[in-house]
Amino acid sequence: MGDPHTPEPEFFESIYRRAGRDPGSIPWADMEPTPLLVRWLRDTSHGPGDAVVVGCGLGDDAEALAAAGWNVTAFDLSPAAIGWCRERFPTSTVDYRVQDLTDLPAPWLGAFDLVMEARTIQSFRPEKQPRIIGWISDLLAAQGRLLVAAIGHRGAPRVTGPPWPVAEADLSAFLERGLELHDFSANPSPWEGFELFELEYRKA
Ligand SMILES: C[S@@+](CC[C@H](N)C(=O)[O-])C[C@H]1O[C@@H](n2cnc3c(N)ncnc32)[C@H](O)[C@@H]1O
Repeated sequence: MGDPHTPEPEFFESIYRRAGRDPGSIPWADMEPTPLLVRWLRDTSHGPGDAVVVGCGLGDDAEALAAAGWNVTAFDLSPAAIGWCRERFPTSTVDYRVQDLTDLPAPWLGAFDLVMEARTIQSFRPEKQPRIIGWISDLLAAQGRLLVAAIGHRGAPRVTGPPWPVAEADLSAFLERGLELHDFSANPSPWEGFELFELEYRKA
């Protein structure tokens, strides 16, 4: 906690803590897996293997992966979120961890066949996002897949965050990390003027 890359040291933790286990108080808590992940799991022939969920929130993506046979690590900066995941899914096989994305354990680097990232990048200020993208990319093993769901923009003015929608041009940081873009779509988002970017990258 308190990392200079994070918008406010207690920002996410206080939202989860104050919610008092009411997901309706968490603006991003859909209480279901990210549609991109659901479709990918339905269609893919990749895996199962080792997966990691970045900024896992209340755990729905992690549980969907575990149900599909993946060996899942899921982490979030917020101890309250991780505690909530463990309460929601007491018999889960997911390894839920309190962990800061900006300070990853060395054994995690290059360790995962699938990295799932939904709406974490936009938690960081635009000038930090390329470095955040770098850290997310570093989790991937050779031949690994990375799924990204992010609110983004293609030239729209940036808003005062958090969150800070991701500029399409800044996604090039994934390519600079040696990943190949396999799939990209820009879909309507609930936020006027912004889009929901859905991407799949592959590591050679
Ligand atoms: C907008 S929420 C999205 C949560 C979840 N991925 C979802 O789609 O419902 C962003 C999440 O990123 C987490 N987060 C923010 N900064 C982080 C960091 N430095 N390391 C790990 N998680 C972080 C927050 O605690 C929060 O759960």
